[in-house]
Amino acid sequence: MAFATTKHLNLRGYRESDKDYFMEQENDQRVMLTGYPGYVVPNGPNGWKDLQENFLSKELLVIVAEVKREYAGLRKWDEGEVRKEGEEKKPEDWDRELFAGYSALGIGMPKNRDAHFGIAINAQWWGNGFATEITEWMVQHAFEQLNVHRISLGYTGVNLAAKRVYEKCGFPHEGAKRKAFWLNGEWVDAVSMGILDEEYWERKKQLANKA
Ligand SMILES: CC(C)(COP(=O)(O)OP(=O)(O)OC[C@H]1O[C@@H](n2cnc3c(N)ncnc32)[C@H](O)[C@@H]1OP(=O)(O)O)[C@@H](O)C(=O)NCCC(=O)NCCS
Repeated sequence: MAFATTKHLNLRGYRESDKDYFMEQENDQRVMLTGYPGYVVPNGPNGWKDLQENFLSKELLVIVAEVKREYAGLRKWDEGEVRKEGEEKKPEDWDRELFAGYSALGIGMPKNRDAHFGIAINAQWWGNGFATEITEWMVQHAFEQLNVHRISLGYTGVNLAAKRVYEKCGFPHEGAKRKAFWLNGEWVDAVSMGILDEEYWERKKQLANKA
């Protein structure tokens, strides 16, 4: 059962059976290049344990985004991907096909209620507005249910899709650490954005007035 829904997505907690889907994403260079600040190398058999112990279980909120079946046609297929149809499609084939990625919020220092936001969408689903839907839901949930004071995030300066998503969701720019990441043979900036609770409520009021 979904924890929440958006237009195209069911949002739910992660489960043990998601292991292969998480690891496929962790081994996809297209996602890793801008999604992870560290060395871009394939993840071995300890990757899932490491991800669970050092990331997923420590975050305040982790949601898996699963595409609603009626939108399955939005998926792009990579060359060589096994694509099952009709009767031969089992529940686990649907699970793999519809897994779109995840998003997380972590709280470093509880006193300050400053949540750090992250998101990674599988490349097969890029460009469908999913990151925007998820980010909007996460921001609303963080301020209206979790009572955070601010949400902080960072992206590599060349990641124009991420920049666009965060701007659309109301995040102001806060600054940049110059030439902080080595990416595709050059140094790129680490850009910071953040939204405060008062900015969230003001934006909500403005959007309601426009509607
Ligand atoms: C960044 C990411 C989350 C975007 O996911 P997505 O589901 O494709 O995003 P959306 O479809 O909601 O929105 C993307 C927006 O960026 C725009 N965009 C995409 N590529 C762009 C580019 N090269 N230049 C400018 N804008 C671009 C799209 O047109 C869209 O804007 P629009 O709705 O106004 O047309 C996804 O590419 C991803 O997971 N990348 C790898 C991990 C990562 O970088 N995570 C975030 C940073 S930590």
